[in-house]
Amino acid sequence: MCGIIGYTGKSHAEKIMLDALELLEYRGYDSAGIALLHQGGTEILKCTGRVKDLRNLCALKKPEGFCGIGHTRWATHGGVCDANAHPHRFGRITLIHNGIIENYRELTEKYALEGHLRSETDSEVVAAVVEHFYAGDPYSAIRRTVLKLKGTFALAIMFDDQPGKIYAVRNVSPIVAALTGDGAILSSDVAAIVPFTTDYFVVPEFHVACLKPDGIELYDLSGDQAKIDWLKVDWDVSRSGKGGYPFYMEKEIMEQPEVIRETIQPRIRDGRPDFSQEQIPDEILSGCRRICVIACGTAMHAGLVGKSLIQAMIGIHVDVVMASEFMYNDPVVDKNTLVIAISQSGETIDTLEALKFARKCGSPSISIVNVKGASIARASEYVIYTNAGPEIAVASTKAYTTQLAVLYLLTARMAMARGLWSDEKLSDFMKELQRVPEVLERVLETKEEIHRLSGTILNARDVFMIGRGLDYSILLEGSLKLKEVSYIHSEAHASGELKHGTIALITEDTPVIAVVTQEKLKSKELSNIREVQSRGARVLLLIKENETLDEGEKWSCVYRLPKMEDPFMVMPASVVLQLIAYYVSLDKGLDVDKPRNLAKVVTVE
Ligand code: M6R
Repeated sequence: MCGIIGYTGKSHAEKIMLDALELLEYRGYDSAGIALLHQGGTEILKCTGRVKDLRNLCALKKPEGFCGIGHTRWATHGGVCDANAHPHRFGRITLIHNGIIENYRELTEKYALEGHLRSETDSEVVAAVVEHFYAGDPYSAIRRTVLKLKGTFALAIMFDDQPGKIYAVRNVSPIVAALTGDGAILSSDVAAIVPFTTDYFVVPEFHVACLKPDGIELYDLSGDQAKIDWLKVDWDVSRSGKGGYPFYMEKEIMEQPEVIRETIQPRIRDGRPDFSQEQIPDEILSGCRRICVIACGTAMHAGLVGKSLIQAMIGIHVDVVMASEFMYNDPVVDKNTLVIAISQSGETIDTLEALKFARKCGSPSISIVNVKGASIARASEYVIYTNAGPEIAVASTKAYTTQLAVLYLLTARMAMARGLWSDEKLSDFMKELQRVPEVLERVLETKEEIHRLSGTILNARDVFMIGRGLDYSILLEGSLKLKEVSYIHSEAHASGELKHGTIALITEDTPVIAVVTQEKLKSKELSNIREVQSRGARVLLLIKENETLDEGEKWSCVYRLPKMEDPFMVMPASVVLQLIAYYVSLDKGLDVDKPRNLAKVVTVE
């Protein structure tokens, strides 16, 4: 959470930082600020609100300088106000921070800071501690400060008497750095670096990077120079903009056929699933007795679909655990448990910590991550990258369907490794998987019809979503999508559970979205739909195109999904639910890409 940027070089730092903060705004948008270090001293401009508000402030104050740091905040410690916005300044130190300093109270006491701080943030405390230790050697002050900190941090620091230099250090929270051609840049993720270069490196934990106009130096905490491991952004850089769509969410929904193709094609050889590029040995897939998926939010919902697939097709037990709860339920994982961590950003701290714990217990691990080189990818034994490209909208869409695509591939490879399927069955499964992109294209061609159907819930206060089995799993994701971008209260329910309590809430004012795609569950699902209809609910039904419906019944709203084999129906149904959420948010005039209170990358527990 929080976007951080730093630039030093020959260009005007203010412009570079404002442009970068706009690209990073999806990481947090409570307040924004920049600081410029120049001959006349350090100048800070910050305000609550969005980067556009900061831009207006800058247009008024016209700050100048060639070395600066900037921040867009997702509030943790201290409310949303100008004083709590970053950068923070104490004595000769100016600093921005992403993360949480758990022992900030003890530090406040130890260094007698009470009464000297201007904000309520843990970050200002860090600036004060750096100031305390600073006696002309930035490395020594940073080293001594870092040894006192408990918690997570990505820090970019400027010292008044070190013109043109930005120092960076981190624990858990990410920082990447690069050369721009006329200077050096650092950021919390590559989104802000891509306009300058595709070569970058991840600042290793507990190392100090020093950015200067003519290069970058890296040192470990004992003061020894460290080697920089350069990486290459392998996104199609043209994917970074909105591509003519009003919001990233729509663009990312529309990209799904293409990015699913790009995720599955390189992993199919001779018609079979192939993870040799990832060097994943078959033994890890054949040897485990159970699987534990750890993930949060949308990624966890992908895991639930994976559970249904693997249990049904491989016959081994799969637990899907909310990463944020993993540690608090005395997890039972061991060398016979394959842990699969799923994360778009690869930085979600709950998932990262759960993964590290599982590895300590001896579990083999595979992560499914979208961002190359991210912490979760580096912390796991094997990694499978989803080739979704940058996902900027806070609401996850293409990351989810590419995670599903990887889970289908893994299921098939597991079946192969265990000798469970005939060649014919494997070939049918893989052919169906390869049909997904074209099926999604068909759904996307009907987006205007889906837009019209979304009107049926536009003014609802509450929406219920019902289904069974796989249909229930995708509704959990559909419901999350709707509530996060439209602010409509929505709940997904296993339809058989309704009569155990929730049906009391169903009235003519609670529209219900029902998904019926699983042949073996159809008649039960339709009975549950009749139960809510007879309580007055208007039902929007998503059902396969070939299913016959009783003409005598009141089917006012039906969307016909292109037919796939049942395990794959998740794909078209999910895209319809994504579009419904998108259009409701759009028609309510909301900021679709940046829903309130949220951030794209969740690096706080
Ligand atoms: O980056 P991750 O996939 O680990 O993020 C996990 C969740 O925070 C994320 O999926 C969140 O639920 C989505 N942005 C919701 O659309």
